Amino acid sequence: MWLQRVGRSLGQGRRHLSAKIVKGTSIEVQPEDGESAATMTFPGVWLRDNCRCAVCFHGSSKSRRLDWDAFDTRVRPLSVRSDKAAGQVHVSWSDAHESSYTLAWLRQRSFDTQRQRSYLEDFYRPSTRHWAGAEFEQIAQHFDYEQVMAEDASLKQWLQALAVYGVALLRGAPLDEGVVRRLAERVGFIRRTTYGEEFIVQAKPGAQNFAYLSLPLPLHTDLPYYEYKPSVNILHCVVQTKSRGGSNLLVDAFHIADRLRSQHPEDFERLCRIPVDWNDIGSEDGREFHNIWRAPVICLDAEGKYARINHSVPQRDSHFSVPLEEVEPWYESYARFVRLARDDAHAFKTRPGDVLTFNNIRLLHGRTGYDDTEQNSRYIVGAYLDWDIIYSRLRVLKKHAPPPANKS
Ligand code: OGA
Ligand code: ZN
Ligand code: ZN
Repeated sequence: MWLQRVGRSLGQGRRHLSAKIVKGTSIEVQPEDGESAATMTFPGVWLRDNCRCAVCFHGSSKSRRLDWDAFDTRVRPLSVRSDKAAGQVHVSWSDAHESSYTLAWLRQRSFDTQRQRSYLEDFYRPSTRHWAGAEFEQIAQHFDYEQVMAEDASLKQWLQALAVYGVALLRGAPLDEGVVRRLAERVGFIRRTTYGEEFIVQAKPGAQNFAYLSLPLPLHTDLPYYEYKPSVNILHCVVQTKSRGGSNLLVDAFHIADRLRSQHPEDFERLCRIPVDWNDIGSEDGREFHNIWRAPVICLDAEGKYARINHSVPQRDSHFSVPLEEVEPWYESYARFVRLARDDAHAFKTRPGDVLTFNNIRLLHGRTGYDDTEQNSRYIVGAYLDWDIIYSRLRVLKKHAPPPANKS
């Protein structure tokens, strides 16, 4: 193992950069510029895999082009040299390759857990803040529709609020049917489903969907019977009923799951484990469909965090493809979850020009019943967006207007 330290005075004071091989396979980089001087350790295999030279990395597509069929996972650094003036670390490898990395690039990819956490929370996906129904007025942020359409800063704040709280309200939208499309296209593009791109929620004779009645619509997830559920609902209120009812109901099901996890862990475990058959059978625009997706009510990701929630009374299939002995306990657990959610739901009535946006795979939503007559109707235009598209837009907005320096 050999070590080289280089230190030279630069204008703004002493700046050092040193790098050495540790344990034969890793490289330790020590920036000493006062601001962020912690030692960073990088596994050699990772550095070699991420070589930025033109042979290993395709610049314009920002993609790895390294020949992985020939990649040696036992590759070792033979020598390392730091160039403080250029802010670079150069490595010679046991596979006869040479690589260079800038300090800035290395810093952004430091394996330090604090740095990784801030990258994940500030850039990958903002951490969610779960809320109880009683907190709704404090957490629900309002934005001006025209401002969101015109200013990137407003667009970013809306999408950030949606990511963190799962709900945000836009106000002052015009009363035409094109609002949901224009808004979705400001972010990216509409997510199409069985029910089209834009859909109209109003009481309809011979309704093909339970929502298209004026009956109370209990708390639910839209399209739980899709493997790839639409992520965010956009509901534009064009006409609101003057009758009682027609209010929206919202509850943060991540908060309900938190409560279940701490107060009723057996129910929580069951709702995370037992797959439920969700379904939707019908036809739309002359096209017949039969959708089924099996998934638990609470779906966890690889890190044990909530990935998504599924709940719908009308769209739960009469097929329940689980072992017999799981059925009765599951009903008890599910009933507890549904009761907790119902008791925590916050009701509010949107006004014409309001656009309610919320996370369909986190919040449960519903609607109170209303009277629908010729003189007193209700007309909501809806559309969906997907998180992939929203997060991507949010990251691009953040890249162009980074947060204050001390955070990154
Ligand atoms: C729906 C729905 C809410 C509303 O159509 O799935 O939840 O306000 N509608 O009518
Ligand atoms: Zn290379
Ligand atoms: Zn719905």
